[in-house]
Amino acid sequence: MYKIAVVPGDGIGPEVIAEGVKVLNAAAEVESLSIEWEWFPIGSERYLRTGDLLTEEDIDRLGKNDAIYFGAIGDPRVAPGILEKGILITMRTRFDQYVNMRPSRSWHPYTPLKRERDFDITFLRENTEDFYMGAGGSFQKKEPTSTIKIRRQLYDLDLKVEAVSSTDYEFAYEVGIMSSKGIERFADFAFEMAKNRGMEKITAADKANICTHLYHLWRRIFKQKSEEYGIPVEFMYVDAMAMALVRSPERFGIVACPNMFGDILTDLGAEIMGGLGVAASGNINPHGVSMFEPVHGSAPDIAGQGKANPIAAILAAKMMIDQLGRPDLGKQIEWAVKRAMDQKLVTADMGGKLSTQQAGDAIVELIRASG
Ligand code: NAD
Ligand code: IPM
Ligand code: MN
Repeated sequence: MYKIAVVPGDGIGPEVIAEGVKVLNAAAEVESLSIEWEWFPIGSERYLRTGDLLTEEDIDRLGKNDAIYFGAIGDPRVAPGILEKGILITMRTRFDQYVNMRPSRSWHPYTPLKRERDFDITFLRENTEDFYMGAGGSFQKKEPTSTIKIRRQLYDLDLKVEAVSSTDYEFAYEVGIMSSKGIERFADFAFEMAKNRGMEKITAADKANICTHLYHLWRRIFKQKSEEYGIPVEFMYVDAMAMALVRSPERFGIVACPNMFGDILTDLGAEIMGGLGVAASGNINPHGVSMFEPVHGSAPDIAGQGKANPIAAILAAKMMIDQLGRPDLGKQIEWAVKRAMDQKLVTADMGGKLSTQQAGDAIVELIRASG
């Protein structure tokens, strides 16, 4: 028996999560496994009603589950950043989910790339540091000494800021910060994965040619870990990486990225495999509660119309059950998704004719028929 917390969230979140729950229940039924779902009304509606983002009580109750299944947050009625930082980023940092795993593979015939060889990339994105620290501010002329307080499971960090400018211009800043321990544990995860998969190398993306402080530390630690594990690391600048991902994605296996570049590269990774509608994501704490979600957001432009592709959420459920220790169920779900794609039982973003619900039903039927 597994206990899973469900946070459908905003926009298309609830629409795609309903399909993911249905599909995972169907796969579990075939194997007589029971799953207990606990639903949480966290998101923009509650925020607009009560002002609550992610409360201590939420964190407490979420943490009593084996995993968290998350839809998306984001609402045009709320200023950008409030829900994103207050709910999603808080969840990732409070549960110390320091690895964000985002696979990208050539799903034929949906990949827009005309490549002879298949590609199968696992993006690993450091998920708690970098430009996501919330270490920022703004000032005009002079900022009196103030303290930015950063709280992570690994450390408390107080950053004292004082600024004086020669003009009246307004300034705003966002500081990128990484710690040796933060990079080490992330690199360990990446090299362990490379070792288990028998991979020849890891690629690490950065911008060490301009953010020299931040990414020289990143490189130094990746080099150390590379020697420790006896697995080569290939460093690439993130701009060249974006180019290479379109030109020759089959060159890559595991791609390790700092938080912000990982965010950007994984939307690209989604598009080269068939779009945001199929890209899944796992926010992993190897020793704690992990959270699984689609890469995409709340897509307000198509919300409430039955147009959303549920596959990203369904493959996130697959990652979740894999990580909970039942990769046999994960395989079953992935097989059914592939069959549905082959038979064009998909939504309009992939050229199909089905609604969100019909696309979910088609995958459920394939699972039941095979089981
Ligand atoms: P988005 O991912 O929501 O949408 C980008 C584009 O992709 C839109 O045109 C959308 O219609 C399309 N799309 C996304 N998912 C789809 C699906 N399943 N099926 C078919 N088409 C799909 O990104 P955005 O528009 O930049 O952001 C909207 C809101 O979501 C913002 O508030 C943003 O901050 C938030 N967001 C949240 C998450 C998350 O909760 N993990 C992730 C990304 C963005
Ligand atoms: C993602 C999203 C989030 C991120 C936003 C909504 C904060 O884009 O999960 O990719 O930047 O990590
Ligand atoms: Mn993103």
